[in-house]
Amino acid sequence: MKIAIVGTGYVGLVSGACFAEMGVDVTCVDIDNAKIEGLMKGIIPIYEPGLRTIVLRNYDAERLHFTTDLPSVLNEMEIVFIAVGTPSDINGNADLSYVMTVADTIARHVTKPLLIVTKSTVPVGTSHRMLEVVRERLAERQLPDLKIEVASNPEFLKEGAAVADFMSPDRVVVGVESEQAKELMTKLYRPFLLNNFRVIFMDILSSEMTKYASNAMLATRISFMNDIANLCERVGADVNMVRRGMGSDSRIGRSFLYPGCGYGGSCFPKDIRALISVAESVGYEMKLLKAVEEVNNLQKNILFEKLTNHFDGKLNGLTVAVWGLSFKPETDDVRDAASLTLIRSLLDAGVTVRTYDPAAISEARKVLGDEVYYANDIYDAALGADALIVPTEWKEFRLPNWEVLKKIMRRHVVIDGRNIYSSAELSSIGFGYHGIGQK
Ligand SMILES: NC(=O)c1ccc[n+]([C@@H]2O[C@H](COP(=O)([O-])OP(=O)(O)OC[C@H]3O[C@@H](n4cnc5c(N)ncnc54)[C@H](O)[C@@H]3O)[C@@H](O)[C@H]2O)c1
Repeated sequence: MKIAIVGTGYVGLVSGACFAEMGVDVTCVDIDNAKIEGLMKGIIPIYEPGLRTIVLRNYDAERLHFTTDLPSVLNEMEIVFIAVGTPSDINGNADLSYVMTVADTIARHVTKPLLIVTKSTVPVGTSHRMLEVVRERLAERQLPDLKIEVASNPEFLKEGAAVADFMSPDRVVVGVESEQAKELMTKLYRPFLLNNFRVIFMDILSSEMTKYASNAMLATRISFMNDIANLCERVGADVNMVRRGMGSDSRIGRSFLYPGCGYGGSCFPKDIRALISVAESVGYEMKLLKAVEEVNNLQKNILFEKLTNHFDGKLNGLTVAVWGLSFKPETDDVRDAASLTLIRSLLDAGVTVRTYDPAAISEARKVLGDEVYYANDIYDAALGADALIVPTEWKEFRLPNWEVLKKIMRRHVVIDGRNIYSSAELSSIGFGYHGIGQK
């Protein structure tokens, strides 16, 4: 089976390498020359556990190919996946220009029957709109009867565990409108789900909506817990206990109940905004999701507020260590990360910022430039600091040597954005401690 995946980012590269791992002949396409040239030399453009091994293995085995020239390979393919970005535009809508550009390239060059699959997260109706555009172009090219179909196959992988998620998904959602498309998608996904075939087939509109509804539910759980955590602080309860008590109810479950300093990343913020805006376009108001977004925006300031309260508003001239720049552990992705909101506020308040991250420094540098110091390790970041703030819970931050930190920091306070430390332990060795949702 031969497929192409257009867009070689977090989703496209992981999907391509994983399909190739199952024996599919995959061509990953991107417009970014440097990225494609790098991949052909074995340079993996993103940090994602396990990705490097399977990219190199399948590239060497000639099952995985890279190109910037979609037209030159298009007519060899049975399926073309679209996995380009769908960022927010200035009004909060999903910017579909990248998706539509790919659809237009396909429409101008396709000469054989093809299934086009949207893997990018796209608002309800996009796949149909894309097909209309393709059909118009085919009519112009005097190819009105060429059998081009669309399907929707939203991606649910988590950055940081993307390869494992793709290789062993909870479920695969596929929106199709013909038996042929269903058969092709079944053939492609069967190797991943030999023991328990968990592909849920549905119509295309429902498939597109499933992705947004899933992200909206996860974001809602996070904002809900952040709201509960903020209330816990005010009434003297401990959200860590509350979370355990709630999560052990099987109707609720334990996942995504962790309070923190707000959700970020390349998906939740833009997908929540896009869903709100899709609803507005059909005259419906998503009141709950608007609140989810509002709570999250407030929560992204919570670490700065805790620091401000601790120092009675006198931040100018302080030095603060920030451990963790990526929006979550095990990724180098800093898009919409809580760390960036925090660092911007710190810099505006006249604070000197010393940062460390195990993987995301080069991505963060693209946003923050030379405005902060990028340390070599956690201790280097903490040198001479008046406070330590942890917005991202990388494993290597979990058990630092507090005695060393005591010696090298100028003052001793920890603001723990992910509740990974024990308040009692830190107090016993002379650190002030502020977690989320605790007294
Ligand atoms: N990142 C995630 O964890 C994740 C998870 C599920 C779904 N998604 C969705 O998947 C889509 C892709 O996300 P991502 O994080 O992989 O994006 P990304 O920004 O990492 O990658 C997108 C790639 O598309 C390329 N591109 C843009 N226009 C192109 C064109 N015309 N032809 C070829 N390549 C082109 C870009 O150069 C870039 O390399 C988005 O819709 C996103 O919402 C992302």
